[in-house]
Amino acid sequence: MNLEEFRRNYSMGRLSRADLNACPVSQFEQWLQQIMGTSIKDPTAMIVGTCDASGQPNQRYVLLKSVSADGFVFFTDTDSTKGQEISANPKVSLLFPWHAYERQVRVQGVAKALDREKVAEYFHSRPRQSQVAAYTSEQSQVIDSRQTLEQAFMRNQDELEDQVPLPERWGGYLIEPHSFEFWQGGDYRLHDRFRYQYHEGGWQIERLQP
Ligand SMILES: Cc1cc2nc3c(=O)[nH]c(=O)nc-3n(C[C@H](O)[C@H](O)[C@H](O)COP(=O)(O)O)c2cc1C
Repeated sequence: MNLEEFRRNYSMGRLSRADLNACPVSQFEQWLQQIMGTSIKDPTAMIVGTCDASGQPNQRYVLLKSVSADGFVFFTDTDSTKGQEISANPKVSLLFPWHAYERQVRVQGVAKALDREKVAEYFHSRPRQSQVAAYTSEQSQVIDSRQTLEQAFMRNQDELEDQVPLPERWGGYLIEPHSFEFWQGGDYRLHDRFRYQYHEGGWQIERLQP
């Protein structure tokens, strides 16, 4: 398999300074809306990058559950690897991998734990089986077999009351952004890239070389 020959051109569109919204969150929402109107699977999936204490980066997908001027929200197990890394170093990156449409969005920001009320509200809005699964799983911990996990899940399905208790370790984060980059693939690899950086109370926009 020769991967060196595996390539394609990017020619679906252009991004110019005049197209950009002055507010990166509005620009992001516009792109998200466009992507949600396509057949792309999991358009809200984003890659969250964290770093461990040695500086080793780590990434995984999560689902974006809301976006606003305050930032980007996702839910997870706060005792998981990502949760532990965030509590030691709340600087995170997000990547929206919309390459099927020749786009990507990068965000850098700081993670803040969501308040328990918001977490409980979302947790209890999920299907009961998802609540039971979250209650059962200690995310990122080693387990001896799938059977052990399924048995614990079945037991909890039967024994827990209708309203599954919110596990202490389950929570969510708001990523408060300070930098964005919007990337649109271009002809001959001359891609369009615009970076927004928060500076002295406003967003500065710069074009970056591809
Ligand atoms: C498309 C997709 C969406 C996911 N969404 C979430 C999510 O919203 N929350 C979550 O905790 N894990 C989610 N996961 C699983 C994570 O990628 C990861 O396996 C898990 O959170 C454990 O990561 P950690 O060990 O780095 O903490 C998702 C995985 C995929 C592929």
